[in-house]
Amino acid sequence: MVVELSPIDRAKFVAAKKASEFVEDGMRVGLGTGSTAAWMVRCVGELVRDHGLRIVGVPTSTRTAELARDVGIKIVSLDEAKWLDLTIDGADEFDDEFSLIKGGGGALLQEKIVATASDQMIVITDAAKEVENLGAFPLPIEVIPFGWQTSKALVEEMLISMDVLGQQAGLRMDGDAPFVTDEGNHILDLHLKRIGKPRDLALVLNQVPGVVENGLFIDICDKVVIGFGDGKVEVRDIHEGASSEDQIQFLETDNLFRDLDDE
Ligand code: 5RP
Repeated sequence: MVVELSPIDRAKFVAAKKASEFVEDGMRVGLGTGSTAAWMVRCVGELVRDHGLRIVGVPTSTRTAELARDVGIKIVSLDEAKWLDLTIDGADEFDDEFSLIKGGGGALLQEKIVATASDQMIVITDAAKEVENLGAFPLPIEVIPFGWQTSKALVEEMLISMDVLGQQAGLRMDGDAPFVTDEGNHILDLHLKRIGKPRDLALVLNQVPGVVENGLFIDICDKVVIGFGDGKVEVRDIHEGASSEDQIQFLETDNLFRDLDDE
């Protein structure tokens, strides 16, 4: 079966395809989680299978590990790899300083550890995720199950003194049960509407007992690759302060688009 891609999936795909061009022979590569990152894993898998690219991948979730193995990427743990050349991952929001909200897929803890242990992080995204101020997307934080309601109350109280427009926290659910992360923790989604000082908030959130990590990625991302539905891609680099454009050609009859399981 050949899958017909929606404009948003085309945008995600071309961003992923462009980012896969930054993967070089011999690299240790962090593999992100989510629908955009899944495209990247498929693109890198194709380079491994069809073009002899030799890399090892460090997945950021059990989902990504499974997909990476399926497409032929050799998987190692972060402790085995020790340090990575590059991590490519999606995001839920990004601003002009390349600060991010991540964790919509519930993998923020491993994603942050892996990205921080990399020489370079490339975010792959569609244009709709660019924002002037972070916070319209609910900010995920990972909390341990023990006393999570107390952690939630402490976070909500702390938010009153922070530069945010909302203070409400909700426990993420998976059907009738709380969502459980790969580390056995829960996720609280913080409905902040607008985050005035993301750097301050990221530091303060991690001081609350029971909070393991938050989905604000500050000073971690180096490049953003933005895909568009017509195949255009824009690559922005925070260090060079420059951007470049490219056009990605693709055929939906390509093997990459056959028999896709939904991410
Ligand atoms: C998972 C993430 C994802 O990268 C983020 O949610 C974006 O997902 P998608 O590419 O499916 O829009 O942070 O924890």
